[in-house]
Amino acid sequence: MQTEEQLKQLVKEKYSEIALQSTDNNKASCCGAGGCSTEVYNIMTDDYSQLEGYNPDADLGLGCGLPIQFAKIKRGDVVVDLGSGAGNDCFIARKETGETGKVIGIDFTDAMIEKARTNAEKLGFHNVEFRYGDIEKIPITANIADVIVSNCV
Ligand SMILES: C[S@@+](CC[C@H](N)C(=O)[O-])C[C@H]1O[C@@H](n2cnc3c(N)ncnc32)[C@H](O)[C@@H]1O
Repeated sequence: MQTEEQLKQLVKEKYSEIALQSTDNNKASCCGAGGCSTEVYNIMTDDYSQLEGYNPDADLGLGCGLPIQFAKIKRGDVVVDLGSGAGNDCFIARKETGETGKVIGIDFTDAMIEKARTNAEKLGFHNVEFRYGDIEKIPITANIADVIVSNCV
């Protein structure tokens, strides 16, 4: 029987591998890298590419649906994305918050945080921040989020 920490370590290792792969490797599965049955997860994998704010570099094919579309995000909101991966939902959320808001992505896989930060830098976004941390102990102060989203975590 593995401890909670061992299981989390395994999850981090798998997502580190995925972060370093090309998007095409993961397109067919919400869990990426062929870790799940494509038959089941193909049904849940939606196409983000038509959405405003979509950034192909941030889409590793890991999402299950489009939570941002239903989150009623307003201009100026602070949005927190739990398990943000390469930042796919964060960049779409940033389109909704605009420059006056802020988006904070949280993930416990270093390689994902690195990839997400690179994506934000390329876009020149200063109000999209990626923080390393476990979502069971969220690294933000209380009462700052207007909207909290999480996609397939
Ligand atoms: C299936 S991916 C989804 C990524 C992103 N939400 C998307 O739709 O592209 C799951 C992500 O959650 C992260 N994750 C899983 N458990 C976590 C935890 N306890 N704390 C922080 N991040 C976690 C993984 O590192 C991975 O990047």
